[in-house]
Amino acid sequence: MPKKISMEIIEQENVGSNVYRLTLAGKFSAQPGQFVQVAVSTAYDPFLKRPFSVHDCSANTLTLLYRRSGRGTSLLAEKKAGEKLEVVGPLGTGFPMVTEDKIILVAGGIGSAPLFYLLKTLQAAGKKVAFYYGARSKNELILREQYQMLADEYMEATDDGSCGHQGVVTELMADVLDEEKPVIFACGPDGMLRAVAKLAKRNKCRCYVSLEAHMACGVGACLGCVVPNIRGEYVRVCVEGPVFPAVEVF
Ligand SMILES: Cc1cc2nc3c(=O)[nH]c(=O)nc-3n(C[C@H](O)[C@H](O)[C@H](O)COP(=O)(O)OP(=O)(O)OC[C@H]3O[C@@H](n4cnc5c(N)ncnc54)[C@H](O)[C@@H]3O)c2cc1C
Ligand code: FES
Repeated sequence: MPKKISMEIIEQENVGSNVYRLTLAGKFSAQPGQFVQVAVSTAYDPFLKRPFSVHDCSANTLTLLYRRSGRGTSLLAEKKAGEKLEVVGPLGTGFPMVTEDKIILVAGGIGSAPLFYLLKTLQAAGKKVAFYYGARSKNELILREQYQMLADEYMEATDDGSCGHQGVVTELMADVLDEEKPVIFACGPDGMLRAVAKLAKRNKCRCYVSLEAHMACGVGACLGCVVPNIRGEYVRVCVEGPVFPAVEVF
């Protein structure tokens, strides 16, 4: 059973346009790619907890990176250091550890959230990690400096050309996939994930994608988050996912 943990807010930082990094104190551990459900209100409205990827964690801290997009995330953005939050997790199936040494992480906008912890974990295991970051414009390449500093190789692309390559991030990847056959881990909008999955298949590279779905229970009971796999069966993003082999879901 996933644990319900009461965590204290250490820091809430505004790190971009409507994007916040929230650091919580409490005993916690997770695999990269797993997520937590956060109670954004102590009242019954909104009733449902909201799912967020683990952006980073240590034995005594959990960090989330989130975009304020609606009622729940707006309530969360108002919370201050010292307040307590109820968190359920870790939940779901994260990114698998792989034996290959060359790995590419592909992020789209706020989809970078789970890839920071993954990047650190892979590097601690001795892997060479390239980070490819795409967004509509420079201000949506959230905390780009931390990936630029940490990754063994860093590439970026924006639709409007305000930073890095003008165009989509997959345009930067084709040659590397063909030559080096890396394993790919991706998180971002559906369109980007489909493009990455297609490119990976064409180049015979293993690829894992982290999906988002609207969630209610977060623990496999309500079936609110199901998506069809390639065999036409329904899989639960909150239990079998959010990370899936790309060939399973696209
Ligand atoms: C496994 C998982 C991990 C996630 N990790 C992160 C993260 O690390 N950082 C982050 O910013 N967001 C993340 N999300 C999305 C986040 O849960 C939603 O943005 C949030 O629940 C919106 O709540 P709200 O009450 O503010 O918005 P609502 O008022 O409920 O909705 C506002 C807008 O957000 C959209 N939305 C609502 N829920 C989701 C959802 N589950 N997925 C996609 N869009 C949604 C709605 O369609 C609407 O356009 C994750 C979602 C899942 C399923
Ligand atoms: S959110 Fe209830 S089964 Fe996934």
